[in-house]
Amino acid sequence: MADRKAVVLVARRTFDDAIARLREHFEVRVNDDDAVWPQDELIRRLQGVYITGSEQIDATLLDACPDLRAVCSMAVGYNNVDLPACTARGVLVSNAPDVLTETTADFGFALMMATARRISESEHFLRRGEWHKWSYDMFAGSDVHGSTLGILGMGRIGQAIARRGHLGFGMRVIYHNRSRLAPALEAPLAAQWVEKDALLQQADHLVIVVPYSPASHHAIGARELGLMKPSATLTNIARGGVVDDAALAQALATRRIAAAGLDVFEGEPQVHPGLLTVPNVVLTPHIASASIPTRLAMSHLAVDNLIAALSGGRPPTALNPELLNRGAEPA
Ligand code: DGY
Repeated sequence: MADRKAVVLVARRTFDDAIARLREHFEVRVNDDDAVWPQDELIRRLQGVYITGSEQIDATLLDACPDLRAVCSMAVGYNNVDLPACTARGVLVSNAPDVLTETTADFGFALMMATARRISESEHFLRRGEWHKWSYDMFAGSDVHGSTLGILGMGRIGQAIARRGHLGFGMRVIYHNRSRLAPALEAPLAAQWVEKDALLQQADHLVIVVPYSPASHHAIGARELGLMKPSATLTNIARGGVVDDAALAQALATRRIAAAGLDVFEGEPQVHPGLLTVPNVVLTPHIASASIPTRLAMSHLAVDNLIAALSGGRPPTALNPELLNRGAEPA
């Protein structure tokens, strides 16, 4: 093992700089076509893999790749990786937290504003050549400033959205999270923890930032949508599957809620057909963290982790750091 370079698979196309850094350390195989490889195409006997939030790393793949030692993702969400199965086989897993927090919060806030102020819907109207005169209620939406911002999932990104809402737009911030924030974190945001149903009933603008897990599957379904104000908006920048998209499409079609902004979808890149036909939804293709500097930072963090994991160092954002204490053998 020590006399040959580890083979690292970069499962999706990425920045040349990131690949060049990997090539300094490893034999690198790149997916130049950027095709989303099904599992059976993922190369056997790889030792380290650079992934995004899309590739499924599960027990079947791990068993087919007995030499695999590190799975390093450029995404923060890692619901596509079976972490216990990796840990059981001694495979180091890392994600990319922190570096995307502010960029993702910017986008979440922008999507929420676009939804509240009906920006996509009115742009499509204009592009279709349907704008013939100004009228007093044309595309009148709801205010963001001074309204109640409800956040489901108050981790780093949730807190960054709360900062924008409270400090920038004078919003009242309520949130629901498994655990309450420390008072020192709540105080500058004047953020108030509430039960989930109270969050749904009180929010003018609900933003979903909770990670996907079996416990959060369909956390927002028909019952939850039924609790929301008819004037409310819902923005999902978390993961598809946290919201029941079929129930949401129905709630939008019947104006049970006013509008939604969605960056993530169940079964993406497929989108529920009911969401494609209702006008009161803003749809974007999972781009919340997509600024060039942030995507580059995410990419470099995955590379930092891979280099450390395969060279006997300490990966900076390991998700199963307990493996490091077992004296993992260097490449
Ligand atoms: C993340 O980092 O989790 C983003 O959603 C991209 O997958």
